[in-house]
Parts: sequence; structure tokens; C-alpha cells
Amino acid sequence: MAEVVFKDTTKIYEGGVVGAKSINLTVRDCEFIVLVGPSGCGKSTTLRMVAGLEDITYGTIHIGERLINNVQPKDRDIAMVFQSYALYPHMTVYKNMAFGLKLRKYPKAEIKQRVADAAKMLGISGLLDRKPKALSGGQRQRVALGRAIVREPKAFLFDEPLSNLDAKLRVETRAELKALHRRLHTTTIYVTHDQEEAMTLGDRIVVMFEGVIQQCAAPLEVYDRPVNRFVAGFVGTPPMNFMEGKLIGSNGNVWWEGARAKLRLPESHGQALTSHVGREVVLGVRPEHMSSRNEGRFADGDNILSVEVSVVEILGDTKDVHMKVGDNLLVARVNAHEEISEESHMQMYLDTDKLHVFEPGETGVNLCVSKEVAGVSA
Ligand SMILES: Nc1ncnc2c1ncn2[C@@H]1O[C@H](COP(=O)(O)OP(=O)(O)OP(=O)(O)O)[C@@H](O)[C@H]1O
Ligand SMILES: [Mg+2]
Repeated sequence: MAEVVFKDTTKIYEGGVVGAKSINLTVRDCEFIVLVGPSGCGKSTTLRMVAGLEDITYGTIHIGERLINNVQPKDRDIAMVFQSYALYPHMTVYKNMAFGLKLRKYPKAEIKQRVADAAKMLGISGLLDRKPKALSGGQRQRVALGRAIVREPKAFLFDEPLSNLDAKLRVETRAELKALHRRLHTTTIYVTHDQEEAMTLGDRIVVMFEGVIQQCAAPLEVYDRPVNRFVAGFVGTPPMNFMEGKLIGSNGNVWWEGARAKLRLPESHGQALTSHVGREVVLGVRPEHMSSRNEGRFADGDNILSVEVSVVEILGDTKDVHMKVGDNLLVARVNAHEEISEESHMQMYLDTDKLHVFEPGETGVNLCVSKEVAGVSA
């Protein structure tokens, strides 16, 4: 087991396409870290540089003490699991799992023991004589996992290993992966574009966009204290709502003023926001930080949005309220028992302690979060 350390690691593909730019990240020994971001943001590129499937253009990667830039993939002592299980169709499950060990000339008895142990851990002991085509998708993915586990590598690399599974199986396998990591403690780098998967699996998550790490921190930290608008909009479902407006100072407080509303921002952010008074900003509010009931954390006074409700979707104990404020389309997620009619005008109350204020632009900085605290780099 080992740390994986990226230092200014950069991949520029032929033709000048930037795959990953100045990645600085230390994946700690035994840590489960998740790289997450939209398609093309550089997740696979970053992972493949660790695996040795892509050359590193600039910078370095160390696994433990060892600089691996020029080490052959097979000598890196890591195991990678892909979205496509890439099992050998003509071999049994046993042979698929044993193959890597056999290549490395392990004694037969040890191979047998390791395959048996891994199969037991993954609940596939009864399938060892079958060929891959006689397995379900979930079983195949477990065999692929088994093949990685038997190697007892320094690190596991996963590239979207669950995306071929149906929704239910994905959630189950996700939980199994987490349990497996708890048992094996192997340093893991896991790639997904699914923010929910990232939140549930990662000790820390690394949000990437356009080849650049935007934020690296524990899941709740990223959720509560996103460093910029991109991260804020990417993490959370439904996504954070954004409204353009301006910061104004009045009665010793800082307010956000938009086309249809004026909201008092919490004093806790006052200092950070004061120097931005008079500037254009983007307000961010999560769907769950709005309510139609003016009580509890929503009973503030200067926290009202006048909205036009269009559609209400019932989800069980909550419901999503789709609404318009001026030209902005917003979604609130409220208690299912709140009385809200479709096609109506009403007032929504915001939990102003939870508001965010961003500088304009796709990756506009969150003015309510200090960079040191939120773990911009790692
Ligand atoms: N072999 C290649 N040659 C040129 N450009 C490439 C190559 N592989 C990837 N890229 C580009 O590098 C960027 C990052 O790609 P990468 O595959 O790392 O993204 P990703 O985050 O894994 O996306 P996805 O979620 O779609 O798998 C993209 O702009 C992509 O088009
Ligand atoms: Mg990818």
C-alpha cells in the first residue's frame, strides 16, 4: 500500500489538446479518492497516467517513494478496473482471476488460495467454473474486481466500473466496493462522472473541470463550501439555483439585490462580502434551503422570494417545486406536506445562512468560502 503523489502532472495530447493540467494531489495511503467531473474534464487521463497507459507530458507521479514516470505499466504494482470488464471470454472465472498471477509466475498453491479468498470476499465462489458469457453484468464486474484484488497491488485504479450496471445493481455494488475498501484498505483512485457516486464513495472527492482540479476535499465540505460556481452547480441534486444580481450595502448589512428580490446576507459573510459591494454577483441557493413555511430556520424576515410556481413533482417525503423568479427558473425541494399549488403565485422563504455568493462566470469564486478552509488544492 502506498501514497500516490501528483506534482504538476500535465498531459498534452498530440494536436495540443490539454487532457490534464498541473495536477497537484496527494492520495494518502489507504485513502479512497474519487475524481469526478463532466465528460472530457480529464478524469481518465489523470488515472491512465498513473496506470502507465498515457505518457506524462510534464510533472511527476510517485507511488510510494518511487518515481513512476518511466516505469513500465506492468511494473507499477497497481491494478486497474475499467467500465468494460475486459474478461477473457474463453477462460473460466477462475482462470480469469488467476491469469495475472500466473503471468507473474506465482506458485500454483498461492494462486489457488488468493483466488479462493477473493472469490469468497466477493460472493462468487460458486461461479469459478463458469465462463463470462454465463454471468450477469454484476457478476462479471465482480470477477473483474476479483482479478484486481488477487494481485494485492499498492493501489487500485477504477475508471467508471459501475456504469454498465443497471441503477439498482449500481447502488448495491457501490456499497460492496465501500465495504471491500474498509477490509482491504488499499489506496484507491476512482473515476466517475456521477456526483452521487462520488459523494457516497470518497473519503475525499476531487472535482475536475477542463483538465484542472477545482476542489479537493471531503464530500460534505465540497457540498457545504464549494469554492466556485462550477463545483457548486456540479455537486448536489437537484443542482444549486443561481440568480444574477448585485451586492449592496444598507443598514450595516450586505444585501443581494436582483430583478425581483432583495435578500439580507448573513453577518458571518459580511467581512468577505463588504469589499465587493456595488459589484455584479451570482447568488446561489440550494433547492433544500427554500420553504413555503416562514418558520424555524426560514423565519428571518429579509429572506423572501416572490415566485410563480409552474410544476410540483412529488418524490415521497419531499417534493420538487419548479418555479420562476423573473427570467430565472428555480427548483425548491420541500417537505411533501407543504401546500403548494401548480400555476400559482406565492412566497418562498430562504435559509439565508446557507446562501452562497459567486463572482460572475462559469468558475466564479465563492466569496463566502475562504480557500484555505475549503481545500482548493491538495
Ligand atoms: N488519445 C487522445 N488524443 C487526443 N485527445 C484526447 C485523447 N484522449 C482524451 N483526449 C481529450 O482529453 C480531454 C480529457 O479526456 P478524458 O478522457 O480524460 O476525459 P474524462 O473526464 O475521462 O471524460 P469521460 O467522462 O467522457 O470519460 C478531452 O478533451 C478529450 O477529448
Ligand atoms: Mg473517462
